[in-house]
Amino acid sequence: MTELDSQLGNGASSGFTSLEPEPRAEFIAPPFTLPPYPYDRLKPVLQAADMHPGGAIDLSIGTPCDQPPENVCEALRDTSSVAGYPTSVGSAALLEAAHGWLERRIGVRLGSGSLANCIGTKELVAGLPLILKLRSPRRDTVLYPAVAYPTYEMGAILAGCRAVAVPVDDQWRIDLSSISSADAERALCLWVNTPGNPAGALDDLDAAAEWGRTHGIPVLSDECYIEFTWQGPPRTILRSGPEGVLAVHSLSKRSNFAGGRAGFYAGDADLVRFVSEVRKHQGLMIPAPVQRGAAVAWSEDSHVDVQRDRYHRRLVRLAAQFTRLGLAPTLPEGAFYLWVHAPDGAWETASRLADSVGVVVSPGEFYGAAGAAYLRIAAVQPDERLDLLDQRIQAWEAQQ
Ligand SMILES: Cc1ncc(COP(=O)(O)O)c(C=O)c1O
Repeated sequence: MTELDSQLGNGASSGFTSLEPEPRAEFIAPPFTLPPYPYDRLKPVLQAADMHPGGAIDLSIGTPCDQPPENVCEALRDTSSVAGYPTSVGSAALLEAAHGWLERRIGVRLGSGSLANCIGTKELVAGLPLILKLRSPRRDTVLYPAVAYPTYEMGAILAGCRAVAVPVDDQWRIDLSSISSADAERALCLWVNTPGNPAGALDDLDAAAEWGRTHGIPVLSDECYIEFTWQGPPRTILRSGPEGVLAVHSLSKRSNFAGGRAGFYAGDADLVRFVSEVRKHQGLMIPAPVQRGAAVAWSEDSHVDVQRDRYHRRLVRLAAQFTRLGLAPTLPEGAFYLWVHAPDGAWETASRLADSVGVVVSPGEFYGAAGAAYLRIAAVQPDERLDLLDQRIQAWEAQQ
């Protein structure tokens, strides 16, 4: 036994020299139980839908089906900069393009150092609580809307934090007044998401920023559907100033670039500095060719206007189709999902739709227990697949 072993309390019988003290029983955390990935639970529904000739019409995951602009793909083929490491915050060209988009399209001008890039935004959403906990170790709570993108909760869990769902009102907007002072005191951050996934609701982002500033809690505003706002102008938390807030933006939806993995976060310069420094230590950086493609995508808007029209047309069409299937969808205020009540139960209705017309939709419980009586229908299939759905609905109606 070495001197160090004896200082650390390692017994000679352990048979090896360790720098780590043996953990004492009370320090051992319970093993992490990994919950099933939500969409993996849909496999039986998907298999049933796939039995139809022509296969499943999958409206479950919100993955884009249309192509990104050709010049974005062209930029990806440029491998001239792959020899060296790319920068973690993003190249000067990418930073400039993202700033340019914010100013041109959203009307917000930020100083340098107030924006950094990320590898798509899911990894950022999943990772931010861990980073913010390094900054505020005494705080342990992540607040997020009770009906929301599931990664807000998962990010809290992965950081060993309390995940506290904030109730939403009857229009699916976050109800800030229902946050208890005990939870606010422990909060590391508050997530908001406008337009919201799954219900397409539009929050009052000025009120969210104000709440955060009053309580000294960073407000993280996920705005990845901002250019698919159907009611009124696009909303960003940055309109009320960058202090104490981060807005999170993605190329996945606006430019059909989900496979490229590119997004950014912007706002409070101190927060951006802290988060981006940690991410630099973590080795998180967008691959160089993707940075080139992303710079092109943020610099252009006409393809997004085309995509807006596509999504809106598909939403209208899907609303009519699901009305024929016995549901009562209404058009959302934003994003590209129909969020519809399933009076006969969400899983039961999802199975019925798969069996009868081969269409796959997501049960609302994927987005929180408060959404369990609903279904989410994503407008992510091209027109030909929706033509096929029309034919199947017609055949099903004839049997009724
Ligand atoms: C609300 C919301 N935030 C973030 C993401 C993640 O997007 P990405 O990682 O592709 O940027 C999604 C994807 O569906 C989403 O719906």
